[in-house]
Amino acid sequence: MDSWEAIRAECAACQKCVLGETRHNVVFGTGNPRAPILFVGEGPGEQEDLQGEPFVGPAGRFLDDMLSLIHLERSRDFYITNIVKCRPPRNRDPLGPEQDACIGYLRRQTALMRPRIIVCLGRIAAMRLIKPDFRITREHGQWFTKSGVEMTALYHPSALLRDPAKRPETFEDLVALREKILSVCPQVYEGQKI
Ligand code: SF4
Ligand code: URA
Repeated sequence: MDSWEAIRAECAACQKCVLGETRHNVVFGTGNPRAPILFVGEGPGEQEDLQGEPFVGPAGRFLDDMLSLIHLERSRDFYITNIVKCRPPRNRDPLGPEQDACIGYLRRQTALMRPRIIVCLGRIAAMRLIKPDFRITREHGQWFTKSGVEMTALYHPSALLRDPAKRPETFEDLVALREKILSVCPQVYEGQKI
């Protein structure tokens, strides 16, 4: 049987793609693996690579602030990881073969976690997990059901930092996310005043 420890150990030693050659740390994932919500970004940035944790740089702080608006906290309410576990040099997009090499780890994490909701952060994760022709500008905030899992995508927090004009739409997407949580996994908010 698969286990979190087994996946973590394999990732820590992984050299299945070239990103393994330049990483400082594998960024496996963090948060509550027993929570019903999974967030997926594209790949570690500089701070993530140095610290070994996802979304701990400026984009990560912005994401935490955004999610606090709907009372979600990573240590308690969700798990968060990336499509690729090692940093692409100069933060370029992870290439197809790198995603192909790494995606098995995310699939195994997802199989163990069995989330009710998956939230893609940005275009790369949405194209990989929702559909290959996903258009983030047009389709962010829309909901898709795949194998009984409710899936959506938000603009990547780095895009929201760069372009504040996108933030009001993301606020609407967050309100819809809160509604979806209340309908499919209301236990997330039990005991919280919202
Ligand atoms: Fe292995 Fe993924 Fe890192 Fe590539 S990005 S070396 S597949 S853990
Ligand atoms: N951007 C991502 O997509 N993932 C991280 O972990 C950090 C920044």
